[in-house]
Amino acid sequence: MKVSVSKQGSSAVAGDLVAVVATRDEVKALAQGRSRRRRGVLTELDDALDGQLEENFRRENFQGKLFEVSVLPVFDERPFHTVLAIGWETKKSEAEYDRLNRLRKLGAMLCRHGRRLRAGRVVLNGATLSLDREGMAALQEGFILAGYRFDRYKSKRKSDEGAEADPELAIAVPGRFSEDAVAVTAALCAGTALARDLVNTPPRDCTPTHLMQTCRDLARTLGLKAEVYDRTRLKSMGANALLAVAQGSDEPPYLIKLTYRPKVRPKRVISIVGKGITFDSGGLSIKPGASMETMKYDMAGAAAVIGAMQAIGTLRPNVEVRAYIPTTENMISGSATRPGDVVTAMNGKTIEILNTDAEGRLILADALCLAERDRCDVIIDLATLTGAVVVALGPAWAGLFTEHEKLAQGILSAAERSGERFWRLPLAPEYRDLIKSSIADLKNTGGRWAGAITAALFLKEFVAETPWAHLDIAGPSFAESEDHHLKKGGVGFGVRTLVRYILDQ
Ligand code: BES
Ligand code: MN
Ligand code: ZN
Repeated sequence: MKVSVSKQGSSAVAGDLVAVVATRDEVKALAQGRSRRRRGVLTELDDALDGQLEENFRRENFQGKLFEVSVLPVFDERPFHTVLAIGWETKKSEAEYDRLNRLRKLGAMLCRHGRRLRAGRVVLNGATLSLDREGMAALQEGFILAGYRFDRYKSKRKSDEGAEADPELAIAVPGRFSEDAVAVTAALCAGTALARDLVNTPPRDCTPTHLMQTCRDLARTLGLKAEVYDRTRLKSMGANALLAVAQGSDEPPYLIKLTYRPKVRPKRVISIVGKGITFDSGGLSIKPGASMETMKYDMAGAAAVIGAMQAIGTLRPNVEVRAYIPTTENMISGSATRPGDVVTAMNGKTIEILNTDAEGRLILADALCLAERDRCDVIIDLATLTGAVVVALGPAWAGLFTEHEKLAQGILSAAERSGERFWRLPLAPEYRDLIKSSIADLKNTGGRWAGAITAALFLKEFVAETPWAHLDIAGPSFAESEDHHLKKGGVGFGVRTLVRYILDQ
């Protein structure tokens, strides 16, 4: 899915499909012939088509309501075979999130209709959209992310049939747009697509070894450093919490560390940590069948971190970025961890494992310890950690936990530009006692209430002093239905927020 930007008017850019946006007022003015004097995008196009556009609007009763669609096939000799008009709305004051998401949706529609109308190249006349840098990025994101497909497990693939070829988008805008900005957004989307692929891949294929291999491949192609701690090394490091989760699985667990180092002295060192449970059966505290159906996505945090590293390795900012990915399955067998077992994590704290289904916090505990031991300026972890955060915030919003004001604002700002929703939740000291164990330092469950908070409080025990944020992405990482730029399945949630946050440094 390619996107390019051109300074020339859309009539000078060749394409099969010419797309314009039209507001109600513009449509009205066109119908009344009033705007003939004030020449705009619509009138010019209508003139070029000898009035067919206006006639088609009238026939279809197209009013220019937001996202209303009008299609005009063009049969005479022209450099395009279709004109697509999309209803539009401009608002004086609105949240930045809403403005950008409208553009993201527009981009997604251009992709969908471009495919449907068999356009190899879609030319959008963007003159009336008054696109700034962020707006352009949102439009581009919508187009590219809507074009994402995961059909490698289908016996017949749409992409093979060529029935729905991938269109290219050319955005014609007055003024200058840097090609750089377009390349940055393309890298963000490619990282998101990689994360989606990893989440969508079935758990028999997307194993801890597969994640490790993916990281090694990235390291080789992008010049990152990959270090892999296997079972033996994890044992000697004392990463017993991770090992306790892995102990019921036949797949070998890993703690993967990927490092991107800029050529010059980095401004900051940022560590990102992603939960990589490639399948969560719950272990002996087994999940009911229905809850297990989608538990291949319990590695969405790891996927986001890997997708982000691909983008970072491509964009090469002046920041050192380290990714830590603890990865294992959470399975049952004769050797699985029992509820009631006690293990000692890497920082020496003892944990009573009362519920083997609260495994995410266990593998993250050791990964956070390692990230902090390596010393850095900021640690951000991403995890599909609790069902409780989904109960609290639903499928669209992620929970954000941090005691660092600046870090919170930095993440929220990057998220707003990325169209990703985060709501800040408290690391409530009132609930710290809920994770006290009677025989060990901590227990891994906090009881019925405030499950997302007690999970976050548990993680906090493994970060001593580094500014740290925890993102519980259990809700928005996996989409149950298609929603413009989001496809069913893996969302790649967090990649764009993470990378934008890092690029902001
Ligand atoms: N991976 C799950 C959390 C989850 C649930 C993610 C639903 C996405 C959708 C996590 O490992 C888990 O099982 N958490 C338990 C914790 C409980 C046992 C304290 C939960 O949320 O029920
Ligand atoms: Mn679990
Ligand atoms: Zn889990």
